[in-house]
Amino acid sequence: MTKKILILPGDGIGQEVTSSMNEVLYYLIDEQGLDFQISERKVGGSSYDEFGKPLTEETLEIAKNSDAILFGAVGGPQWDNLEWDFRPEQALLGLRKSLGLFANLRPAFLFNELASASPLKNHIIENLDILIVRELTGGVYFGEPRGIVENETPKYGFNTMVYNEDEIRRIAKVAFEAAINRDKKLCSVEKANVLEVSKFWRSIVTEMSEEYPEVELSHQLADNTAMQLVLNPNQYDVIVSGNLFGDMLSDIAATLSGSIGMLPSASLNSSSQGMYEPCHGSAPDIAGEGIANPIAMIASLAMAFEYSLGRVDLGRRIESAIKIFISQGHRTKDISTSEEFMKTQEVAPALIRILKDENE
Ligand code: IPM
Ligand code: MG
Repeated sequence: MTKKILILPGDGIGQEVTSSMNEVLYYLIDEQGLDFQISERKVGGSSYDEFGKPLTEETLEIAKNSDAILFGAVGGPQWDNLEWDFRPEQALLGLRKSLGLFANLRPAFLFNELASASPLKNHIIENLDILIVRELTGGVYFGEPRGIVENETPKYGFNTMVYNEDEIRRIAKVAFEAAINRDKKLCSVEKANVLEVSKFWRSIVTEMSEEYPEVELSHQLADNTAMQLVLNPNQYDVIVSGNLFGDMLSDIAATLSGSIGMLPSASLNSSSQGMYEPCHGSAPDIAGEGIANPIAMIASLAMAFEYSLGRVDLGRRIESAIKIFISQGHRTKDISTSEEFMKTQEVAPALIRILKDENE
């Protein structure tokens, strides 16, 4: 069956990293004779510049009909002062909500060869391998009512942090199942000491743990988890959290591995449709210089093969090519410890050489 892929390079280094990813994708299509239908559209600031909005109806329609969306990054200083609805981030939030991409998988792992790039001491960080499962279409990001009230004194702004039991159950299920396939440890993170919504979250997750006796469940308060991630990150296997805490914890976890340029992510809905994006942003300060690291984007393609394109084997091959690439000593600027480094456009050809060699 034909699989449909939508490529949304976005802004800044999003463009460079997706073009590297495309090289790997087209190589595999060719090698395997894959039946893929591929479209590419603008998104974020570049879509705003051309069409006056960060996400057009046409692009959203194509996205809804795609199996996998490969998303680069959006944003840049030239769009920072736009009104809310026109800001590049709205494209991301709109795609997540419209496609119901509630399950955000954010792995944070370390290639031990890169331990010196981590801000933490080697012995703390070695063998890091965490999966953060972040709820992505609910919580305070989307809760109603919300707003800014200007005609009262004092003026105020407000949001609503809300989760219903179905939303908690479906994300917890993803997390328990992920834990079963890993080290069977799940830590659920909230602020049950302060927030009712968190207390409720904890009770539902606890109730569900009876269905997963093989998984060791723990609960932690989000501020403590932020600290523990830095003190002793290897205590974690899978972490599940709501939208806001998951946003923060996944940034901390990504930083531990030394380069945010290495880490992919997947956002899935209940029909295995997924949006795949690197953890890093659009980095406008280095855009166009050929020094961006495209590995996170290419690793996101690996996740797309695994979760939405029905080819786990190809996902694994990309991941193992990345491991070999690192063990061969190739380094882009962000992970290089010397003056020498590989340019963005040299990465895909090197990975393709490894994919070819390994296939022989
Ligand atoms: C992320 C980002 C987004 C979020 C922003 C850009 C809206 O920080 O994907 O983590 O807060 O979800
Ligand atoms: Mg974030």
